[in-house]
Formats: sequence, C-alpha cells, structure tokens
Amino acid sequence: MSATLIDGKKLSSLVREDIKRDALAYEQKYGRKIGLAVILAGENPASKIYVRNKIVACEETGIRSFEYYLPETVTTDQLIELVETVNADENIDGLLVQLPLPKGVDEKAVLKAVSPAKDVDGFHAVNAGNLLLGNPCLAACTPSGIMELIKSTGVQIARKNAVVVGRSNIVGKPVAVMLLSENATVTVCHSKTTDLKKHTLEADILVVAVGIKEFIKGDMIKKGAVVIDVGMNRSDGKLYGDVEFDSAKERAAFITPVPGGVGPMTITMLLKNTVKAANLAK
Ligand code: GUN
Repeated sequence: MSATLIDGKKLSSLVREDIKRDALAYEQKYGRKIGLAVILAGENPASKIYVRNKIVACEETGIRSFEYYLPETVTTDQLIELVETVNADENIDGLLVQLPLPKGVDEKAVLKAVSPAKDVDGFHAVNAGNLLLGNPCLAACTPSGIMELIKSTGVQIARKNAVVVGRSNIVGKPVAVMLLSENATVTVCHSKTTDLKKHTLEADILVVAVGIKEFIKGDMIKKGAVVIDVGMNRSDGKLYGDVEFDSAKERAAFITPVPGGVGPMTITMLLKNTVKAANLAK
C-alpha cells in the first residue's frame, strides 16, 4: 500500500485565501496595509531564495513588505539599531531577521532585540516561553505549519505516540511542545539517542527535522504512521528530505513530499502570524 500525500501547496493556498481576506479587512478598517519587514544580512544563496519567496507571498496576500539588505560585514550593533528602528515603525506589524546571520554577528543578541509583539518568527524568548506555558503568543512558523498538516489528515493527535527527531529551537523543541499541548505522548530524539529505530517504530506521528538527507528509512517507520518530513537537503541539483521517500511511503498512511509539504506552510504561517500581530497591536 502506498501512503496518501499531504499536499502542503494545496493546504497553503486554502489558508492564504483566509489571510488575504483578513489582510483586506484590516486595510479597510485601519486605512493602511499590514506591514512585514524582512532583514537579510549577507549573501547566503538559500536565504536569498527564502526571502524572495516571503516577499512574493506578501504581495499575493495584500501584505506590504519592507525589505532591508545589509552587507556580510554588518556588525551586531548595526543590526540591532535597524531592528530597533523597525520596532518603532508604526507601519510595520511584523519583523523577521533571516537566519543564519553572517559570521561574527551575535545572533542571540539580535533576536533578543526584536520586539516580542512583532516577532512573527516566534524566535524571541518571550514567545518561546509563552508557547511552553500554553499562553497566547506568536508561535514559530514551521512547527505551526506542521500541526496544520497533521490536522489536515483527520488523524486524531490526542493519545497518540508522537516522535520528533531533531531538537532545534526553530523546529524540534517547539513542535514537541505543540504536540504535547494537543495531548500526544511525545518523545524527542536527537543525534545522541541510542537505538533511534526503537523509538521511531513506536511513532503514530513522526516528525523528522535533522537536516540529513534520507536519514529515516522505511523500515524505521510504523505501519500506518503520519510522517512529516521537514528536511530540505540540496544534493546534485535536487532537493531531498530527511526521510527516504520511496521506502517510507510503503509503510506510512500519510506523508509529506519534499518539496511541496512543509515548505509552503512555513511561509503561510509567517503571513498568518503577521496578521495576528497586526490585530493584537490594536
Ligand atoms: N532560516 C531558516 N528558517 C528560517 C525561518 O523560519 N525564519 C528565519 N528568520 N530564518 C530562517
């Protein structure tokens, strides 16, 4: 049996219709468009593509984008100064600083400078902490997108075994918290986990975010599982997930493709957070 594909592009365009409507309603009510600022420092080619995609997505949903491009040589202080200017700009509702930052820049200090009320990436300690405590917050985008993808399958999350492979601050940790909030029993695995396969074979819901091409093979997946592949590994001009798709699809009931699964949802949740930040500020 072959798994059903979880179509991130399709789900994304459905959610973006709602965002477009909400952005227009805001504009009609307050007389200006919702604004998102994007700061890109340096020349990382993947970051340039991500930022471009975010700006196009803003245009398509009626959100005004404010773009700031800084050289590779930018200092921590210069970046913080720009962040503070954007924090104070009343036409800007959301701010994201594209990561990674150039070598030598203090990433933690820059992210800390972002106003939590405009932190549409959900990376600030205040938002991360509020997510952990179950308080209202701007939550990280990729994890929020993953939850929407899982929910779109109709599979119940409560009481299920969910296994997250990867413990980054951007994906692994926050998605584990979100799954826990939905009453899954959550296991977080990582590079130091002994007998990873023992854990993944117990997973009714498996989220993989390790950044290693085809790290999870089909024989590590429980039959009938929901598999969410967060990987974006470029190799010989192609994009590969963290899951070996061909063997995994023979075991899973639902699986996200790469590309076309998690990726489109991340940007959509960024737009959704921007609308949320704009309305919360009123
Ligand atoms: N770099 C890789 N993923 C992300 C993301 O979601 N947001 C930002 N700001 N930078 C990233």
